[in-house]
Amino acid sequence: MTLGLLPHRALINDVNPHLINFYSWLQRGLTIDLVMKKSKRLYYRYRRRFNDLLERDQATSLEAASLFYYLNRTGYNGLCRFNQKGGFNVPYGKYRRINYDTDFTRYRSTFEKWRFLNQDFQSLPLEPLDFVYADPPYDVEFTSYSKGGFSWEDQKRVANWLAAHAGPVILSNQATDRIVKLYTDCGFRIEYLKAPRMISCTGDRTPAREVLALKNL
Ligand SMILES: C[S@@+](CC[C@H](N)C(=O)[O-])C[C@H]1O[C@@H](n2cnc3c(N)ncnc32)[C@H](O)[C@@H]1O
Repeated sequence: MTLGLLPHRALINDVNPHLINFYSWLQRGLTIDLVMKKSKRLYYRYRRRFNDLLERDQATSLEAASLFYYLNRTGYNGLCRFNQKGGFNVPYGKYRRINYDTDFTRYRSTFEKWRFLNQDFQSLPLEPLDFVYADPPYDVEFTSYSKGGFSWEDQKRVANWLAAHAGPVILSNQATDRIVKLYTDCGFRIEYLKAPRMISCTGDRTPAREVLALKNL
């Protein structure tokens, strides 16, 4: 989204430290110096190596960022999932062909004035009139467990936090009945997306109807 809009300044946040570590390496001018190919053996070797780095407090290293990129491209449906001990546990993906990029230096100048944070959304240092685009984990109705640790309580927390923001807001999510009701009740304008996203946080690739909730624009 941010790369589509290319604002001069941006604050980008995600609670996933590996994603933000990858972006901060892009900001420094990343080139990846790893052999990257579509190979099941290599994938599991790199997955073990990545988890070793996490255990040895090297999660913010260049090597961890490079491995994260490889694992993300090669793992099952681009999923990012960790076990209870914090180890990356996504299985090998099923792709006919994978294009790997090694030179990311073109992002350096674009990212120069962008700030990357790794925290819960609620404590972000927003200015009252900032434009906020929020893309929280998909709501999955009819399940009592919380996907990726993001519960229905968290969905309500996002909605109330966004409703209290004075500036323009766009929220995207799965168009479940309860999400539509939640944002309607909070005074958002609702639009449905014509082009459904073909991936969810579970790796399920069936089309899902998406909703945009808009406010102050
Ligand atoms: C649908 S994904 C969006 C990913 C991102 N927009 C992108 O395109 O790469 C939802 C994201 O919400 C993040 N997330 C989950 N709980 C969060 C929290 N409490 N605060 C901030 N981010 C959170 C997840 O780590 C996940 O990357």
